[in-house]
Amino acid sequence: MKGIILAGGKGTRLAPVTFAVSKQLLPVSDKPLIYYPLSVLMLAEIKDILIISMSQDIPHIRRLLGDGSHLGLRITYAEQDEANGIAEAFIIGAEHIGNDSVALVLGDNVFHGHSFQKILHESVDDIEGCVLFSYPVRDPERYGIGEVDDSGNLVKIVEKPVDPVTNRAIVGLYLYDNAVVDIAKNLRPSERGELEITDINQVYIERGQARLVDFGRGFAWFDAGTPDALFEASQYIQVIERRQGVRVACLEEIALRRGFISLEDCLRNSEPMRGSAYGQYVLSLGEGSPM
Ligand code: G1P
Repeated sequence: MKGIILAGGKGTRLAPVTFAVSKQLLPVSDKPLIYYPLSVLMLAEIKDILIISMSQDIPHIRRLLGDGSHLGLRITYAEQDEANGIAEAFIIGAEHIGNDSVALVLGDNVFHGHSFQKILHESVDDIEGCVLFSYPVRDPERYGIGEVDDSGNLVKIVEKPVDPVTNRAIVGLYLYDNAVVDIAKNLRPSERGELEITDINQVYIERGQARLVDFGRGFAWFDAGTPDALFEASQYIQVIERRQGVRVACLEEIALRRGFISLEDCLRNSEPMRGSAYGQYVLSLGEGSPM
């Protein structure tokens, strides 16, 4: 399975902060926002990852993550300069996807939960159709909202409903079989002129090929695209990390524990971060840190 992180957009809801810095590079607690979606793909054992962003932002993201080899990954980059919609990612990334299945994660989404890794592993195997994830929210008008029948099957997704009939947000992590590339190529832009991810998902629903996995209440999910959400995500991560003494979305730790890199490489590459608490955490992994 291939991975795509969509880290595009002007971050208008975070202006003026985003006038000079890409949203995905802003800090959530002690690390850049993009670490969180990247960690999701790594936890799903996806190593071949395309990052799509605005051409002006790519050099900065590349400076942070490079070609990914220090994490045992292969990271490549592609441009999306116009607001043509999330679903354009599958057209821009068609070559990257090739004949494979693909996981798309939005660059501003933060996930954290006890059984997350298990859910991911169960979901990425042998995908036929698509796997979507939902999460109950207080402000459904901000998201794509899923409607299910009595058996829990997804029957419809409405993008940013004015009168939401449920509070089940479809989060920014989507798993697809290879058909997604053709579906995206045949999609017509919505009224706001974008190729909507919700329209892709609707095609899968109509084909009877959309599976919905609900994250439920004991889980945390943030779409950190506004100042409040960015701040709340930071607070949440800080509380968890302080309380447990572990780091959420520590890329070096995930790469090490999943066997993507050796301990020697991990310690050597992390030397420049010695001056930060994050760096100290990574360097302590050699001493057998908490699980
Ligand atoms: C996008 C999607 C929406 C989804 C949300 C999750 O909205 O269009 O369906 O629920 O991401 O983060 P956006 O945040 O781009 O407005």
